[in-house]
Amino acid sequence: MRSIRIIGGKKLFGTVEVSGSKNAALPILFSTIITRGISVIRRVPDIGDVRVAISILESLGASVIRIGDTLTVDTRSLHYRDPSPTLTSAIRASTYLLGASLSRFGLCRISSVGGCSFSDRPIDMHLYATLAFGGVREGDLISCSKLSGCELDFSIKSVGATINSIIMAASAKGKTVIRGHASEPHIESLIDFLVSAGALISFSEREIIVEGRELHGGDVTVIGDMIEAGSYLAAGLITGGEVTVTGCDVSHLSAFNRAVSMLGASVTAKKSSVTVHSEGRYSFIRVTAAPYPAFPTDLQPIIAPLMARGAGGEIFDTVWTSRYGYLASLTPFGLSYSLKDGYATVNRSDLNAGETRATDLRGGMSALLCALAADGESVIHGAEIIMRGYERPELKLRSLGATVFLE
Ligand code: EPU
Repeated sequence: MRSIRIIGGKKLFGTVEVSGSKNAALPILFSTIITRGISVIRRVPDIGDVRVAISILESLGASVIRIGDTLTVDTRSLHYRDPSPTLTSAIRASTYLLGASLSRFGLCRISSVGGCSFSDRPIDMHLYATLAFGGVREGDLISCSKLSGCELDFSIKSVGATINSIIMAASAKGKTVIRGHASEPHIESLIDFLVSAGALISFSEREIIVEGRELHGGDVTVIGDMIEAGSYLAAGLITGGEVTVTGCDVSHLSAFNRAVSMLGASVTAKKSSVTVHSEGRYSFIRVTAAPYPAFPTDLQPIIAPLMARGAGGEIFDTVWTSRYGYLASLTPFGLSYSLKDGYATVNRSDLNAGETRATDLRGGMSALLCALAADGESVIHGAEIIMRGYERPELKLRSLGATVFLE
């Protein structure tokens, strides 16, 4: 287990260029399974989850070469293999194997899927989609010689089930219509890749329409990571400094920018950058995390330390209704909170240096933010959990003036 040691209490200043989005890169990588060709995927973050995804692709016979942040993925000759539970249980995105494997090999096995364990994470919608395309389930195996297009109407907006459905529809026989779908920016990023590989997909708020095709290799640049962007903006704010993030579509940050403005930050959003600094006056704010374009659930653990440093706040997460476990890991930093009726109330708190363990990816970054704000030396254990989704955070934070060591 690795740790991050932080000497906090320093104001952070400067500019960070965010990496490619984890949650866009992962579906694109898994969707190469349904293509027969060589794909070029640019701006792929070198993070733990992506490394696991590459190992899964290689175990199916793909050749994956990384040069800088560009991956070349050759999926011309793949063979079916039961996924290694060690690999699939390491990342949530292994659920995309259900659709991709069924589509390419006519077979998939429902095996353990991993990812952050902050909540129950059911896969019933993914399974419903595989069966709607013609899959037949026997025990934990689903098979189908050729998927057929279908109509799907989801009653809950699920990023993962929407992605799996698009992956299956892209090379299924005939037309698929998906309604009640999620609209996160990473879904459009996946569509961009599949279209470059020959897919016929139209996306609107009302429905996604897909005409199945044989797909060749594609070429795409992964969008910038909006959650990483929000995390570094929060690092600037919580330390009382001024941080600019670049490399991310500013419109993806609208809900976050609105929330931190209400909290008291000055936010300057330009065409391709956002700059924040604290005005030193804080307001109590209420944040409701919900599917895009609302405030993202993945940024609620990031805004909680800002609430504590400011005038307090209230969080209501409608996506992962119990995603508050990370708050207990922030109490060594003096953060005080209470939970009631599905709400988390974060009290105004004097943050002190402390030692804790990362509970999950965003919870780990939340602890790192507390440590950056507090005077003195803090330690966060389980640093690899943070590195699953953040590319070289210690280097990016050091470039802003933080004293951070990865041990
Ligand atoms: N849901 C079901 N049944 C399903 C699938 C989802 O009921 O079969 C429910 C979930 O319980 C949840 C809601 O639908 O209440 C939304 O879940 P979703 O399927 O959208 O989440 P996911 O695809 O498993 C992705 C991200 C998460 C992010 C969520 C929500 C990836 C690899 N993961 O998860 O990212 O929190 O969407 O935006 O893309 C993170 O990056 O830290 C992270 C956890």
